[in-house]
Amino acid sequence: FSSMVSAGLPVLEQKERYKVGFAQSESNNPWRIAETKSFKEAALSCNWDLVYTDAAGSAAKQVSDVDSMIAQQVDVIFLPPREERPLLPAVMRAKSQGIPVFLVDRSVDAKVAQAGRDYVSFLGSNFIEQGQLAAQWLIENTGGQAKIIELEGTTGSSPANDRRKGFDDEIAKHAGMTILASQSGDFARDKGRKVTETLLQSHPDVNVIYAHNDEMAIGAIQALEASGRKAGTDVLIVSIDGTRDALQAIIDGKMALTVESSPFFGPLACATLKRYVGGETIEPWVRVSDRIFTIDNAAKHIDEAY
Ligand code: AHR
Repeated sequence: FSSMVSAGLPVLEQKERYKVGFAQSESNNPWRIAETKSFKEAALSCNWDLVYTDAAGSAAKQVSDVDSMIAQQVDVIFLPPREERPLLPAVMRAKSQGIPVFLVDRSVDAKVAQAGRDYVSFLGSNFIEQGQLAAQWLIENTGGQAKIIELEGTTGSSPANDRRKGFDDEIAKHAGMTILASQSGDFARDKGRKVTETLLQSHPDVNVIYAHNDEMAIGAIQALEASGRKAGTDVLIVSIDGTRDALQAIIDGKMALTVESSPFFGPLACATLKRYVGGETIEPWVRVSDRIFTIDNAAKHIDEAY
């Protein structure tokens, strides 16, 4: 088992196999499924005994999943916290029991918990930059004139908070760019479709939809088509992730852009854990860099997509 070092991070001894917890938040979209697959593959190639849980979209269940991993005395926990605040006590409990926690893909409230003190590190993308990239592409490609509906991710999650901030701050610099409405579709296709249906009625003049992930963008395409509008022509759609369905929608002319957000965290988790066990101080943020997919490169990358 790992042992505690006073107020610092837990130390993990070198050994043949590690018992590794991965507490997934939900499995309702291709992104989450790809992330889980990546961890399961890493477990095989890195000699881990994987303890896997799925919180089925409930932060409360994710808290009890982490607590159960603590009770099972896993060596280390990889956690994508569904929301920024509710998972904080579980992260603190793991640390106090001598179990190092790595946050993967999503983070917790930085005002309360700190990398290098309460958890080892955050492995993930720059969500603020993703929002900025989507906004900058729109500003350049609409001549700075757009009426936008924003479909937000899960309320209280770090990607929803940061993708909104990055995008909204950039858009606010341009007088011709207006955000007509901004509402949560919980990162889910069907909720994205329903929210778009409602917002199209109150804002029929919309000509851009910015979705915080591809699943909601696909839902928005369905809602637009059901209302007799042409996705990609009457309304430009931009989003984030880089799923197979989104790249196909770009090839079909229904979507304009998706900013990549990689779900393939298994190999990075394996490499970072090896460094940690080897006694390295891990940087507070292990950054993942993301590309942009448009009609210029979607066909080239669709075979790697999930
Ligand atoms: O945390 C990353 C986000 O979570 C992805 O953009 C989304 O598809 C997933 O549910």
